[in-house]
Amino acid sequence: MLKLSIKQLLQQKQHNQDEHGKNFFGTDITLQGWVRNKRDSKAGLSFISLTDGSCLTTMQIVAKAQLPNYENILKLTKDCSISVIGTIEKSLGSNQDFEIIAKEIQIIGWVENPETYPVSPKRHTVEFLREVSHLRIRTNLLSSVMRVRNTISYAIHEYFQQNEFYWIHTPIITATDAEGAGELFQVTSLNLNDLPRDGLGKIDYKNDFFGKQTFLTVSGQLNAEAYCLAMSKVYTFGPTFRAENSNTTRHLAEFWMVEPEVAFADLNQNAKLAEELLKFIFNKVLNDNLHEIDFFVEYIDKEVRNRLTSLVANKFEVITYTEAIEQLLKPGKNFENPVYWGVDLSSEHERWICETLVGRPTVVINYPKDIKAFYMRANDDGKTVAAMDVLAPGVGEIIGGAQREERYDLLVNRMKELGVGLEALSWYLDLRKFGSVPHSGFGLGLDRLVSYITGVNNIRDIIPFPRASKSANF
Ligand code: 4AD
Ligand code: MG
Repeated sequence: MLKLSIKQLLQQKQHNQDEHGKNFFGTDITLQGWVRNKRDSKAGLSFISLTDGSCLTTMQIVAKAQLPNYENILKLTKDCSISVIGTIEKSLGSNQDFEIIAKEIQIIGWVENPETYPVSPKRHTVEFLREVSHLRIRTNLLSSVMRVRNTISYAIHEYFQQNEFYWIHTPIITATDAEGAGELFQVTSLNLNDLPRDGLGKIDYKNDFFGKQTFLTVSGQLNAEAYCLAMSKVYTFGPTFRAENSNTTRHLAEFWMVEPEVAFADLNQNAKLAEELLKFIFNKVLNDNLHEIDFFVEYIDKEVRNRLTSLVANKFEVITYTEAIEQLLKPGKNFENPVYWGVDLSSEHERWICETLVGRPTVVINYPKDIKAFYMRANDDGKTVAAMDVLAPGVGEIIGGAQREERYDLLVNRMKELGVGLEALSWYLDLRKFGSVPHSGFGLGLDRLVSYITGVNNIRDIIPFPRASKSANF
């Protein structure tokens, strides 16, 4: 028997034919999935809505009392798993065009103690669902988010592949703090109860697995730079790790980042790339996730669709950090955090800039050098660097990037000023000695982007098993 997903079934319905050109109605098929809910009518008939996660739509299965195991079918509860053989027929009900008249329903797995089953049919809070992250994917909210997350991830690859970027796999274990922010998780095979010490009493990493101190990467950028300086356009896309103790709706300890790096590109080209990539992604989601967007509009944030369409239609605003500070300093505002030239913008400032001042995503460029990483290219004013952050309404920073310092002497000086060890990064400095070119790149936080697109505002609700400070369950 032809096994179809519900998504395939809906596609075939659009053409009223199966893939062999046979009439859609009257065909027998197999569907497998989980009971979303069930209604028993007095007439000796049960209506099961079946989900298989392939799409948001559930399929109505009609089970008649004549089925040999009808007594057991009456006992089905939410999320019991079943395999159905049935005939596609026009539906008499008003909620769907067609339904499956079951010839056979095999019960594959029961739900034990349905009264205490955590994801019962009622609506649950996201906070509760987080405590059952292994089961919360069985809700429309989580499954819709995950389908959109998939669309976004795939669109990222599609965009780069169409534009001649090579996907490179940068290491997860590293010996350097690429951002210099000291938010590293250490990786070690040493016995923490019996650490080897050198003559000064310090831990002797010569005995550690790699013969030196190592960490989980905070960014693949430095490695990506090496590859862009031979392959012209590259990107890395994978998990990154930060021991950032910020318990906010925007921070994870393990998050996904996509980092393109382009040779012979300056900051303007970098900002253009960010805008084009984001618009490509928004368009994909608008095209491929119609039902999910309807769902978010109805239950999460009624602006979700409008936001995406207006984003695609409008140019991103570009302003300098200095201009942003001037605007933030104008009277009539009430920020918790101080505003002055040189301050690291806090999330309330970022949000005011893109939400109130501009009203759409905003690229802020040319930040003070003292609040940015060592690798950013010094501007001629001596005070700022060619950095850029893309700020999104509701979320704040979703992209951070820069033109890189390609001039050997300036880079060495800056590293010395900031106390960044030259030795460990001698390979990185080599890149400035052997055919150096201006180059630029950025990091787009996938999770923040998913949060922004879906309107689901806590970043812990848009990744399957969130890792954050004091929280690494499942
Ligand atoms: O601004 P960040 O720190 O930039 C870098 O890591 C650069 N090396 C990227 C590059 O130029 N190749 O991080 C980039 C993005 C942020 O804009 C944010 O979207 C996301 O990564 N991000 C986080 N997302 C979730 N949880 C966290 N703790 C995050 N920290 C950064
Ligand atoms: Mg940043």
